[in-house]
This record gives sequence, C-alpha cells and structure tokens, in this order.
Amino acid sequence: MTVGAPRSAVADGKLIVDGAAFFVLGVELHNSSSSTTKAIDDAWISVEKSGANTVLAPVSWAQWEPVEGAVEPAVVDHLIARARAGGQRLVLLWFGSWKNGVSSYCPTWVKTDQQRFPLAQDSAGKVLPALSVFVRENADADAEAFAALMAHVRSVDAEHGTVIMVQVENEVGVLGASRDYGPLSEQAWLAPPPEYFRGSESWSQVADETVRAEECFMAWHYARYVDHVAAAGKRAWPVPMFVNAWLDSDIDANPMAGGTMPGEYPSGGPVPRMLGIWTAAAPHMDFATPDIYAGDVADRARPYAEAGGVQFIPEMRRDRPGQLFRAASHPGSIGMAPFGIDSAPDHELDALRRSYAQLEALVPRLTASERPDRVAFHLDDDHPMQTFDLGGWRFDVERDFDPQGEGNLPDGYGLLIADSAGFVLAGSSVVLHPWTEDHRNPGWVLECRELAPATADGGDLVDVRILNGDETGGGRLIRITRENPPGFGPVPISASTAGILAFTLYAAD
Ligand code: DGJ
Repeated sequence: MTVGAPRSAVADGKLIVDGAAFFVLGVELHNSSSSTTKAIDDAWISVEKSGANTVLAPVSWAQWEPVEGAVEPAVVDHLIARARAGGQRLVLLWFGSWKNGVSSYCPTWVKTDQQRFPLAQDSAGKVLPALSVFVRENADADAEAFAALMAHVRSVDAEHGTVIMVQVENEVGVLGASRDYGPLSEQAWLAPPPEYFRGSESWSQVADETVRAEECFMAWHYARYVDHVAAAGKRAWPVPMFVNAWLDSDIDANPMAGGTMPGEYPSGGPVPRMLGIWTAAAPHMDFATPDIYAGDVADRARPYAEAGGVQFIPEMRRDRPGQLFRAASHPGSIGMAPFGIDSAPDHELDALRRSYAQLEALVPRLTASERPDRVAFHLDDDHPMQTFDLGGWRFDVERDFDPQGEGNLPDGYGLLIADSAGFVLAGSSVVLHPWTEDHRNPGWVLECRELAPATADGGDLVDVRILNGDETGGGRLIRITRENPPGFGPVPISASTAGILAFTLYAAD
C-alpha cells in the first residue's frame, strides 16, 4: 500500500485529484447529519439524488475525541465508506475549537475545564462561549486531536483518496465583541504588532478605527492558531486545507450570516478585507473560502480567487441553481457546494442534478490549461435581461417565455463558453439572441448541435440532434428550456431540455 503522498493537491490554480484536474460539484450536509451512522445513511439518500460528485461533511471534535487521548473513529470510517460506496469524494469539515464563532463542538473535557482551556471575554469581562485564541493549551489540544484525525485518514484512505480536502474549523472569529478582552489577549494587544504591519508601532495603529484595528488583531491571532492546527494535520497527512468565512455585509438579513461590524459577524475571520493577514499568518492553509447566502456568488467570491489563486465555495444557497453557473464561471473556480442538501425538497434536488450533469459535461473546458473565455448569467425578476460580448459576437439573453402566458417566469441561467470551434451553452430557461459586435446586424445560427454525455454515467459528449427550424427560431436564436414548452397556441414546439448546445454563427456582410 502506498502511503507516501495524498492523491489530491492544489497546483497551478487547479485542484488535482489522481493526477487530473477535478471540479467539485459538491453538496454540504447539515451540521448534525454526520453524527451517527444512521444520520449518514439517511443523508445519503439526498446526496445520491443530487448527482454531486463530492460531499462536505462535519467531523466533530467532541465525537472524535470524547475522552482525552482516546479517539472514536467509527463514524468517520462510516462516512468514508459511504462516500466510497457511492462513488463520491469527501471534504471533511473539522469542527474543532470553533464552529460559527463559538466552541459548541469541543469535547466535554474541554468545555468543562475552563481553568485549563480558558474562554474569550467581552469588554465587560463577561465570558463568551468560545475558546480564547490566545491560549496555547487550547491550540495544542485542538492540534493534537486534528493531527490524530489526519493520521487516521491517512491510515484508512491513503490508498483510495476519498478524502480530497479538509476545512479547518468553521467560520472562526469572535461573536458578540470586536475582540477578546481576556488577560492573555490584553497582553497581546499591548505587544508590538508583527512585521507584516510594518509602520505600526502598536495594534491600535494598524487601522484607522479602533474597531478595525481590533479586527486585524483578531485576524492575525486566529490565523496563527488555525495555522498551528493545520500544520499539525498536514504533518500527519497533507491534503489541501482551507478556511471558510462568515461574510460581512449589509445584504444578509439573517442572524447566521452578514453583519457590518466586527463582532456582529465573527471578528477576525477571513472576510475579504482580512485575506492579506490570513495569507501572511497562515502559510499552511492552501486558500480561504467564502460562505455565500446573499448577493451574486461570482461577485462576492472574486476577492478569494484573487487572494488564493483558486475559488471554492463550500456553502451557498441550494435553491438558486443559476448561482452554480455563476460560481463555475471564474477561471480559478475549483467547485462549490450548496448547504443543507439533506433537507432539500425533491424539486431542488432535481434542479441540482440537472445543473451538475451539465457542468460535469463542461469540466474538461472549465479546467483546461488554456481556459476558454466564458460568461455566466443568472436572470430573475430583478435582472430579466442581459447583454454581453463574447467570442467576437454580442448576445442579448432573456428568460424563456412563459408557457402559461402569464408572470412567474422561472429563473433563466447558463454558462456560455467560447472556444476555437464556436460556442457551448449549458443552462435552463434561456433564449440567446446573437448580434454582430456592433449590435447592428443579427447573428444567424450556422449550426446548432444538441449534445449529451455518451452514457448515463457520463463520458464524451455525443450528438443528440442537429437543431434547426422551430428549435432555433428559424436560425435566429439559441434556446434551452427547463421543460418542453407546450407551444404557441395550437402549434406545438420542441426545444432542447438536455441543456448542452454547441453552435456556430454567421452574419450578413
Ligand atoms: C454557516 C455555517 O458555516 C454552517 O455550518 C451552517 O450552520 C450554516 N451557516 C447555517 O446557516
């Protein structure tokens, strides 16, 4: 058995698994869905329906090491076996010292010994339900447990490579205060800042406002702590590791996301403004990621792709398939995972399965070394139309017409890729109107092929039909519908619902 090196790595802006670029078409389970073997089996019913190739699932420190120094691998082993049997890869989420800013996943022997494992405090001295990041004993206990987990993964998984990445902690940062005010934190606050902040002689000088300086202070110390945990894990088994962020924003109207001030969102977590600090202070982390529940994922994830070279979205909404296409559109995208898949209704799982089948077929293009130009669009009531230029043509894109003839249009979305052979489109409920780039003359469809993978399990794309006539509006449009539309009045029409169209264009001189 080879146990030399993991079978996954991040290199050249790609996630490499078994020697080839891998694109994570993932799903994340609910927080408690990998807590027992039964919960795992129950959750897998939805995993299978979703068509995902990767599952993100928590491993709780409390369950992994219920007694200090004695680990309980049965649930982790079941998780790995379940994924292996289903043909999925795994991303383990290490719920160690913190999960969403608090320490609810620490073992009882940690939680109940606050002398040995001190907690953070707010400015009034009130104890917060979170381990203090300034206590070495806290970091060492977490690091030891995590290293044991990674050593175990190595022993049971080196040959298979089912576990391809690990998220270290979950949405870290102080909630309820802009920084920790406990005694060790006070000492650290009075010490000079590290070289990274050159030019600042004290922590209060590292930003214009005190609250922002406190956030930088916490970011540096969280990053050092998490890096200590990650380094211990990597010494045991160096699969790619990342951190995730509870994003700051004023658009998330949700107690579990958003907030504009440090402490409303976890202070010190890897939010976009803190990415420089995290990169400098946590060299063992391969990249940082955003959890995105509001706004457009491509826009909100961009700073992460710029900072880390790759873009991965471990949590996003499961009810907006158009956002999967937006997530996939960044050249550095290595994948995404809607959260809470195991409570999704069947219609959401169906939409996810369809989208993932389309994206899977595009993976060779999405991960090619010469990344072809692409545009992803997501049309809804607020943004019903879009115009963009690609491959020397202009496109007006709108939602497919309403078969019932009245409102409530479904979201339209898609990913259009330009390559040397022409264009490839995947998506749902969209109509593309091509134009010459000056928007003066319409582009006409030269050829449009409807493609599908060769077998139900995937494989090369093969022709299903050559589309013309009604299916391309007489050569004037490219259309993918969610379902076959009933037609115009008494005249039935047919459209592509398989969702991958390869087409070329021409125009009058
Ligand atoms: C973000 C967390 O990271 C997840 O674990 C989960 O709790 C969701 N929020 C739920 O809102």
